[in-house]
Amino acid sequence: MIKIAPSFLSADFGNLESAIRRVEAGGADLIHLDVMDGHFVPNLTFGPLVVKAIRKRTALPLDVHLMISDPARYTPEFLDAGADILTFHHEVGGDLAGLAETIRAHGRVAGVSVRPATPISALFPLLPHIGLALVMSVEPGFGGQPFMRASLERIEALRREIDRTGVRTEIEVDGGIDASNIRDAARAGAGVFVAGSSVFKGDRVEANLRTLREAASEEK
Ligand code: DX5
Ligand code: ZN
Repeated sequence: MIKIAPSFLSADFGNLESAIRRVEAGGADLIHLDVMDGHFVPNLTFGPLVVKAIRKRTALPLDVHLMISDPARYTPEFLDAGADILTFHHEVGGDLAGLAETIRAHGRVAGVSVRPATPISALFPLLPHIGLALVMSVEPGFGGQPFMRASLERIEALRREIDRTGVRTEIEVDGGIDASNIRDAARAGAGVFVAGSSVFKGDRVEANLRTLREAASEEK
């Protein structure tokens, strides 16, 4: 069973209510919310206020991707805002296992993400502490970039390590996912797929979600 997490970075922020209803109608499993601070990545988006506003309008799990330099500082606010999954980046350094345990102690899922240039093995020691490992398949910061095929080997290596050690961490892939590559990413071992531009393109959210789900399980 695969899960699809539409990224609201490609939604119309003037009408978030409509974006929520449409991803719900299309059978999305999660809503992926990209928080950027203009420092860890060269783009700025939104903070806990917007997460909280979305929380009030949907029962779908909120998958919050923190692309910020100091996630520990803002973790309490994002937990209060109602994030179900809170993912921070490995590259920020510090006590990553400790931060993951704080998130877990609040009954939420902790995730850690790696940029494309970070060795995938950097995640291995953290696997017992996290519920989600997020493999970036583009350089984080912007939607609409092409999927980096080299991510497939990284997902495979992560899948091997998870299976070898018997941990229950899910693998999520984020960046450039569309109908042409979702099957490859699923075969490599990912189970959760973030998709922004391929979900919201052409204002056909429900049809796009159906296409993605079909492509994920296609035999070829
Ligand atoms: C990029 C974000 C992604 C992005 C995905 O930094 O983390 O979640 O919105 O958008 P697409 O699917 O268009 O690559
Ligand atoms: Zn993201």
